[in-house]
Amino acid sequence: MARTRRPLIAGNWKMNGLKADAFALAKDLAAGVKQAGWSDRELLVCPPATLVAAIAEAAGGSGLLVGGQNCHAKASGAHTGDVSAEMLKDAGATHVIVGHSERRADCGETDSIVRAKAEAAWRAGLVPIVCIGETLSEREAGDTLSVLETQLKGSVPPGATAANLVVAYEPVWAIGTGKTPTVDEVSAAHAHIRKVLGGLTGDAAGVRLLYGGSVKGSNAAELLAAGDVDGALVGGASLHAAEFLAIAKAA
Ligand code: 13P
Repeated sequence: MARTRRPLIAGNWKMNGLKADAFALAKDLAAGVKQAGWSDRELLVCPPATLVAAIAEAAGGSGLLVGGQNCHAKASGAHTGDVSAEMLKDAGATHVIVGHSERRADCGETDSIVRAKAEAAWRAGLVPIVCIGETLSEREAGDTLSVLETQLKGSVPPGATAANLVVAYEPVWAIGTGKTPTVDEVSAAHAHIRKVLGGLTGDAAGVRLLYGGSVKGSNAAELLAAGDVDGALVGGASLHAAEFLAIAKAA
């Protein structure tokens, strides 16, 4: 059967990127994407908010998509230092990451906050990439699947479709550590996520599920071939054009 879920390879630059290096990286990625001419996969980079507009402009016409790393639930108002989904859209973004574990940990983001942010993304015409994932102690306690289920049910608003939602499974203990779950563990988590999504949307079979956590060129093919994996959310390796393009090639 033809694959219906087009793989999405997303780069989360996190709090990295000053103009000079970021432009050079975006230019190399845009050239790589243009040269490859991929129509069977999508590439997305999520730079810091300060660079979204400029990177969107630099990527223009290449097919490289640009997203935000977070948004506020409100469209505008007295929220000093925050960025709205509408502002990201206005800057050229197509996607926004919501509920990354670093924001859940650093900023106390709960499932209901993440859900409000996902709704804000929809209001602005962006696709939210909703992140969920267990901590090491939760995994060791055997609670992985129930943690994922709780996060998913709390973070995905009603109204999700294959077109307006991406979910990223990022085990907290695999982020930036060089450690990854086994392919079987990834498949089991993703199969469970899709099953739970089945209770939240009639479109669960079409929703793209990304794996994130220490993905690099050398392990991408194996991780991306795991059951129910439709792409990757890449941190560190997305800061190097050759490495990120190698991951995209593996998709
Ligand atoms: P690393 O790829 O650096 O482990 O980060 C993963 C991540 O958090 C992407 O959002």
